[in-house]
Amino acid sequence: MKAIEIRNKYLEFFKKYNHSVIPSAPLIPENDPSVLFNTAGMQPLVPYLLGEKHPAGTRLCDYQKCVRTNDIEEVGDNRHLTFFEMLGNWSLGDYFKDESIKMSYEFLTKELEIPAEKISVTCFAGDDDCPKDTESAEAWKKAGIPEERIYFYGKDDNWWIAGEEGPCGPDTEMFYDTGKPACGPDCQPSCDCGKYVEIWNNVFMEYFKDKNGYRKLKNKNVDTGLGLERMTMLLQGKETPFDTELFKPVMDKLEELQKVDSIESRRIIAEHLRSSMMITCDGGRPSNVDRGYILRRLIRRMIRHMNKIQIDLNELSTLIDINVETLKEMYPDLEKNKDVIKEVIIAEKNKFVKTLNHGEREFEKQIKKLEGTKIVPGKVVFRLYDRYERI
Ligand code: ALA
Repeated sequence: MKAIEIRNKYLEFFKKYNHSVIPSAPLIPENDPSVLFNTAGMQPLVPYLLGEKHPAGTRLCDYQKCVRTNDIEEVGDNRHLTFFEMLGNWSLGDYFKDESIKMSYEFLTKELEIPAEKISVTCFAGDDDCPKDTESAEAWKKAGIPEERIYFYGKDDNWWIAGEEGPCGPDTEMFYDTGKPACGPDCQPSCDCGKYVEIWNNVFMEYFKDKNGYRKLKNKNVDTGLGLERMTMLLQGKETPFDTELFKPVMDKLEELQKVDSIESRRIIAEHLRSSMMITCDGGRPSNVDRGYILRRLIRRMIRHMNKIQIDLNELSTLIDINVETLKEMYPDLEKNKDVIKEVIIAEKNKFVKTLNHGEREFEKQIKKLEGTKIVPGKVVFRLYDRYERI
């Protein structure tokens, strides 16, 4: 199943259960200066989770473009992405654990046809702030998950909050068993050996956390998030999101263009290009502060890896064209804004090339000065790093 089909099935399914489909908010939050990018589907909905009435009702669903950059250094492995799409459904004081779990189970097993025996779930184990979530465990049993595939974990695994303060609560997570051998007798969903992959997170948001601790919200809400790229990869039996139709055309082109073989660099280039295009499309521009700096870092890291595998930087325009073709059905704005996206990314590339050339000349100059010595002073190394490499 292609990503767009999964997205459409998801929205249709929740429409059938009386959810209103709301549009994906831009990556750059409109009324929330506390975050640089939308990092989860719930972010634009915070006022409604806190009790404000949503004009579209108490049952909502959408697909939300998200950017998370705390793992930027991990991109290049087989799973981390900075841009991803999150499918979500919400209950604003409407249904709660039972119905939410029932719908998730039905969507996974009936709509996506995932065999029930491949699904394990985790629930909150309880602590001083909030009791053990036996209600979710019972709902899972009723839905069809046997007790031996229901696990209980503490706040580190089964509690969700965006940042330090805000609406939050215990969550129940669904895991897909890839069929890989267990890494040992204790292998279970919390283990990161790769056997189990988290596919969906249902957060039961009935608390609010601030510096004074936890208090109950006015409503018992549900906030769920299903990562589209990951689900696409699993349903297609692929090892990484880069092997799905979302990345394949650009990955193939990079393989054709590279003069030095590096799968890691190809993934970084493909991922950072897609992310930079999506951020630029929603109005982001490179700069030295905040979100502009993140965009700058993404573009510069991509360029560094293009240099590393010796891809002519003039190919950037072709790579952008390929990505627009690949993604325009899912994100029509990419085609509308193609010219400006190209302009911004290529201008940043040119700026960076200048910086790099400068850095190289500076490096040569410093090395010349040091002729005859064996030690490069820390001051020189720091200066070069700070000016030219810190990206
Ligand atoms: N807000 C929850 C998450 O991002 C669903 O995982």
